[in-house]
Amino acid sequence: AGAAYLRVTPSMLRRQTGRRGKDAWTALGGRVYNITPYLPFHPGGEPELLRTAGRDGTKLFGEIHPWVNYETMLSSCLIGLLVDETEAQS
Ligand code: HEM
Repeated sequence: AGAAYLRVTPSMLRRQTGRRGKDAWTALGGRVYNITPYLPFHPGGEPELLRTAGRDGTKLFGEIHPWVNYETMLSSCLIGLLVDETEAQS
């Protein structure tokens, strides 16, 4: 894991729901993405995509469209790595 990435705990992630002026973040495969800029482009619509906001969307994503290459699509939206709650910011 690169030291340049923000280390995001589940409680930090939970605050990023896309509501109250905050960006929408989601975790996929251990990586955390800011999905706010992608919202208007999602073929499945914003409400569907927002179901993963503030939480780990790996399972839901995999149930809907496992063939979609999110790592490439969201590479410019990557902001950090999901870590355990106990891990301190470094
Ligand atoms: C379709 C990307 C999350 C629901 C698509 C498609 C892409 C995409 C590229 C078109 C796929 C195709 O036509 O083969 C993403 C990305 C996501 C994400 C990058 C994560 C950040 C989700 C979530 C849901 C969802 C969480 C549901 C809870 C759908 C649905 C479609 C779709 C229903 C089908 C739309 C249609 O063809 O009418 N998504 N998606 N997506 N997505 Fe997502």
